[in-house]
Amino acid sequence: MISPGTPNSAGRPQTVWDRLPRPARILAPMEDVTDTVFRRIVARAGRPDLFFTEFTGADALFTRARRSVGKRLQFTPEERPIIAQIWGNNPENYFRAAGLIREMGFDGLDINMGCPMKKIIRKGHCSALIENPSLARELVLAAMEGAGSMPVSVKTRIGLHSVRTEEWCGFLLELEPAALTVHGRISAQQSEGRADWNEVARVVRLRDAMGIRTRIVGNGDVQSLSEVREKHRLFGVDGVMIGRGIFENLFLFREDGKDYASLTPAEKIGYFRRHMQLYHETWGERRNYEVLKKFVKTYIREFDGAAGLVDGIMQTHAYEEAEVLLESFLESLRAPALSDAAIGVTSQA
Ligand SMILES: Cc1cc2nc3c(=O)[nH]c(=O)nc-3n(C[C@H](O)[C@H](O)[C@H](O)COP(=O)(O)O)c2cc1C
Repeated sequence: MISPGTPNSAGRPQTVWDRLPRPARILAPMEDVTDTVFRRIVARAGRPDLFFTEFTGADALFTRARRSVGKRLQFTPEERPIIAQIWGNNPENYFRAAGLIREMGFDGLDINMGCPMKKIIRKGHCSALIENPSLARELVLAAMEGAGSMPVSVKTRIGLHSVRTEEWCGFLLELEPAALTVHGRISAQQSEGRADWNEVARVVRLRDAMGIRTRIVGNGDVQSLSEVREKHRLFGVDGVMIGRGIFENLFLFREDGKDYASLTPAEKIGYFRRHMQLYHETWGERRNYEVLKKFVKTYIREFDGAAGLVDGIMQTHAYEEAEVLLESFLESLRAPALSDAAIGVTSQA
């Protein structure tokens, strides 16, 4: 079923990757963060050019765990264009997962060859594939076969235990994925140190020398749109993927330069409430309330009393408890205005 051979991008139809602006601004896949709820919040706060799902186990999609892991692939039209990311090391399941993801209407499939989590790489998954190119090749080809005209991309790092950019990324480029996202760290670094963008630029040069269409996306430590433009200018990448930066500024992808920090406390609380309500509506009991707490500091920040409110919400274990705290905080914000009115102070006075 899985035919051998090296694909050739020259004759491929246009895909989402060809339609993206340069530099493309991409929200990184982040487990327990970039679910359908957060992606919709980000789409409304300041839309990137492309979204990714959280990484989804290709094997689990074909077991009884499918219902639970399947929620990672839930999306709405508002989140398009969107790429589904998978991981695993069974080519047959990559083939089947690609077919399923195509039928679900995703704009592309991405393969995770970068996750550094010990329990995952011990089993030969994700960044462990950097040291197992023959299996990596089989997986990419199986996914391409199952994906049909849907583009297949890879997200990886510049090495497992040491920097091996040229060898590893050069190898992947020979498979001509639609795009290659390069996080400029080795796996052993996890998120330590700084991402090495000179290594990312090396991948751009490799691609150019090969004369192929693969889009190169750089990733690591980018915090703003001006940095996206700078990375494009200095390192020649076609796109930039941003992960943790979104926690610091929910408006990161906005073109008008408005910063989330400039919102009033009530507006910030409004954003958190919207997330909480959407999360509750979307997931009910299917996703744990505790996971929601990861977002508190993203919304409730940079105003007087924010730290105390965050601490309070971190102690809660149910939506209703958080709601009570938020309402009473909002009440305390309104209180001075009420007392001004009570003593007859108005804007005209
Ligand atoms: C909480 C969290 C979850 C992540 N989950 C994924 C994932 O599911 N798939 C993936 O390819 N990378 C994942 N990553 C890595 C990011 O996509 C990105 O490569 C990394 O954070 C570096 O980019 P940044 O410096 O812009 O954050 C995750 C990172 C974080 C912080």
